[in-house]
Amino acid sequence: MDHSRAPVLEALADFRRRGDIVYGPPGHKQGRGVDPRVLEILGPGVFESDVLLLNGLDDRRESGGILQQAQELMADAVGAEQAFFSTCGSSLSVKTAMLAVAGPGEKLLISRNAHKSVISAVIVNGTMPVWVHPQFDERLHLAHPPQPQDVEEQLRANPDAKGMLLITPTDWGTCADVRAVAEVCHRYDVPLIVDEAWGAHLPFHDRLPAWGMHADADLVVTSVHKMGAAVEQSSVFHLQYDRIDPTVLKQREDLLGTTSASSLVYASLDGWRRQMSEHGPELMARALTRAGRIRGRVAELDGLGLMGREVLGPSGAFDLDPLAITVEVRELGITGMQAAEWLREHHRVDVGSADVCRFNARITHADDDDTEARLMDALGRLISDAPRMGEAPPVRLPRPGALELETAVLPRDAFFAAAETVPADKAAGRISAELVTPYPPGVPVLAPGEVITDEVVDYLRSSVAAGTLIPDAADASLETLRVVAR
Ligand SMILES: Cc1ncc(COP(=O)(O)O)c(C=O)c1O
Repeated sequence: MDHSRAPVLEALADFRRRGDIVYGPPGHKQGRGVDPRVLEILGPGVFESDVLLLNGLDDRRESGGILQQAQELMADAVGAEQAFFSTCGSSLSVKTAMLAVAGPGEKLLISRNAHKSVISAVIVNGTMPVWVHPQFDERLHLAHPPQPQDVEEQLRANPDAKGMLLITPTDWGTCADVRAVAEVCHRYDVPLIVDEAWGAHLPFHDRLPAWGMHADADLVVTSVHKMGAAVEQSSVFHLQYDRIDPTVLKQREDLLGTTSASSLVYASLDGWRRQMSEHGPELMARALTRAGRIRGRVAELDGLGLMGREVLGPSGAFDLDPLAITVEVRELGITGMQAAEWLREHHRVDVGSADVCRFNARITHADDDDTEARLMDALGRLISDAPRMGEAPPVRLPRPGALELETAVLPRDAFFAAAETVPADKAAGRISAELVTPYPPGVPVLAPGEVITDEVVDYLRSSVAAGTLIPDAADASLETLRVVAR
């Protein structure tokens, strides 16, 4: 295929050149009605390029096949049989992907270290989750993706399960053995869905962890805005083999998706695919070299712990994305949240996820010598300033296994059940009616339907006292919890 073409971008350029006058949405009419103070900050190009697909970029019958061509090029670029663009982030794409495999009341294996959008999908879709527990790393206090044998065990115990949803890479960059999990799923004749929200860059260099489509997954969802160069909310479904019917996927996507897809998302996805097709390997090689250099320098800094390939092994992770630089700060006597706030306030360096023990800095092809130097300078100063940051209140981290809570009620039933609010110290033994998610990274500690324990309450409340944010709980202070009424 001709990857120098970019059908959506070309249609946009044509639209602008033609000077169509639009009597449908968007009402700003390509920026003519936008307040100049908005234009001053956003720039006119954003609005000039904000055009509907139907009767805008393409005609009302889509006879130009613009979106179709762009999706076919994307599929070809990443080794998928089919690709579909989605403009509502992977938060919506994972819901659709899950719904395409398991309808209401049907079982789906789900790795429990899932992003909150997956747990929300369990509630919205009415999925019966069969949790596959991740590998808990006791030393680092974090979860790596589950192993193929954990998946096999649950498939054997649940022959009526419709498929498996795996989350890899994790927020911290650790990866599952996708190929081996796919092999297990296919032996049981069910599809493997991979939430590869953090993996849009993986198809473009062989020194990066395996990309889901290359490793035999049936359906892969990515967020191109995370590790790629498309605007926020740019997500893609990638499909191969015949275990998931593309018509079913499209129809279920149609249930949830917007009828006003953003041309900015489509155009930037199209541009990303062209950029990667033409220059992906060299851009990724450069990012890998930079990440390798940063890793080497961070590893030499006293007080910081770099997460490296020592986390790989039979009871750890299968692989690690070297572009995810995860830095442990416990030795400095501070939390990852303190480090993140200090880096932003004092150095205008905004890192990614941060929890009690660590924070994460993502390197992409967009980094350069200047961004690298600023990160390294800020990390050096973080070490020297840490003693003046004040000790964070201690967090009572849970023991291994303590986060594997019993699911007593279907998450959907618990979420929609009559609920009551109880003081947190009286919540043990009750069934959660809400999601309780430290964010970011966004993996729920409590899901609706799970039986609350004192250890989990203690962990969550001490984390909040140390600065963890829980935006989805009804009471973000966690003095109370919302539980299923008796
Ligand atoms: C593993 C995982 N899946 C899905 C999502 C949702 O992606 P999006 O932000 O594109 O909606 C995230 C977001 O952080 C994530 O980490």
